[in-house]
Amino acid sequence: MAMRSRHRATFLLSMERAGRGCRPDHATRILAEQKDQFMKETGFFCPRTHEPLVISADGRFLESPAGDRYPVIDGIPSLLLAAGQDEARGDRNKYYRERAAEYDAGNDVMFRMLLCEEEQTREQLTDFLEIARGDRILEVGCGTCRDTRHFLKRGAQVYAGDINREMVHIGRDRLETAEVDTSALKLFVADAGKLPFPDGFFDRAFHFGGLNLFPDIRASVAEIARVVKPGGRVVLGDEGVGAWLGETEFGKILKNSNPLFHHQAPLDKIPTHARNVSCHWILNGSFYVMVFDVGTGEPQLDLDIEFPGWRGGSHRKRYFGRLEGVSPELRDQAVKAAAAEGISVVSWLERALRRALD
Ligand SMILES: C[S@@+](CC[C@H](N)C(=O)[O-])C[C@H]1O[C@@H](n2cnc3c(N)ncnc32)[C@H](O)[C@@H]1O
Repeated sequence: MAMRSRHRATFLLSMERAGRGCRPDHATRILAEQKDQFMKETGFFCPRTHEPLVISADGRFLESPAGDRYPVIDGIPSLLLAAGQDEARGDRNKYYRERAAEYDAGNDVMFRMLLCEEEQTREQLTDFLEIARGDRILEVGCGTCRDTRHFLKRGAQVYAGDINREMVHIGRDRLETAEVDTSALKLFVADAGKLPFPDGFFDRAFHFGGLNLFPDIRASVAEIARVVKPGGRVVLGDEGVGAWLGETEFGKILKNSNPLFHHQAPLDKIPTHARNVSCHWILNGSFYVMVFDVGTGEPQLDLDIEFPGWRGGSHRKRYFGRLEGVSPELRDQAVKAAAAEGISVVSWLERALRRALD
C-alpha cells in the first residue's frame, strides 16, 4: 500500500515537472484532470497485447505485464509501437507534425470556402454518433480536438488520440479555453492501425479528416471497428467529392486545388460485420461520411425458403447443390417436362435424381 502511494506521488511529481517544462502556468486543468484519472486507473492498454497498462514506479511510463513500456510525455501517454513511431515520423505526417499550428489556424477557411459554418458542421458530424450520456467514445486522429468538444458537451467519456503529439498539444490548449467539462477526457498519442484498447471497449468511434491518407485504410477501419462493442457505432469521414458532382465546376475546382477531393468513400473497406451502413455527403457534397453499426459475422440469410416460379429451388440448393452441366437440348427437355407437370425445374430434377439413385 505504502509502495503504491509512493508510485503515485512520484508519477504526480513527474507530470507536474513535465507540465512546467512546456507550460509557464504550471499544470493546466486538463493535465491535472488526466493526472487524477491516472492515479485511479490509467484506462489505457498495450497496443501490442491489449493488456491493461499501469504507471511505472517513477511515473514516467505506462507499463504492461509483459514488459512493454510507453513514455508519458507532458502528461500525455505515447502509445505507439516502434513501427507506429516510424509512421508518425514519416513523410506522410510531416505536415501535421511540423505545421500543426498552421493547420489549426487555417481549418475554418475550408469551411468558409465551402460556404458552411464549422461549428454547425461538427455538430452535424456529432449527430451521426447518436451519443447517449456516459457513452465511451474513441476519437481517432483527433488532430487539434475540433470535434472533441462537441462529444464532451453531450456527456460522453472521450478518449481522443492522434499519431502526432504536436496536434494533440494544440487540441489540449483549445479545450483548456473552451467552456466544456474536460473531466471525462483522456488524451493520448497512438496509431489508428494499432489502437491501445481491447476488443469492444467503446460504445462509439469517430474519425474525420485523415482517413484517405491512412497507410492501410482497410486495416485501420477494421482496427477501429474492433474496439467498438457489438451494437456500437462507427463514423468515418474525409474529403471526397460525391460522384454526381465529379464533372461540375464545383468538383473540378476543389480537385484542382486539393487532389484529396478525388477520393471516393471507401465503402469497400468497411468490414463485413458492419450493419446498417449508410453514407452521407456533407459540406455541399465535398466530404463523405460513412456510418455503420458493429455486428457479428456476415449478414444471415434464410437459405431454405423455396423460390416460387418455374426454376424453383432455394438459395441453399442453387449455391451449395450445383451439379455438372448437361447439354442445352437435355436442359430444354427437362424444363418442358417440369412445366407440363406444373412443378419447378428443381423439383423435377430432384425427383429424377432420387429415382435414379434408389
Ligand atoms: C486533417 S487532420 C483532421 C483532424 C481532426 N479530426 C479535424 O477534423 O480537425 C488529420 C489527422 O489525422 C492524423 N493521423 C494521420 N494518420 C494517422 C494515424 N495513422 N493514426 C492516427 N492519427 C492519424 C493526423 O495527425 C491529423 O491530426
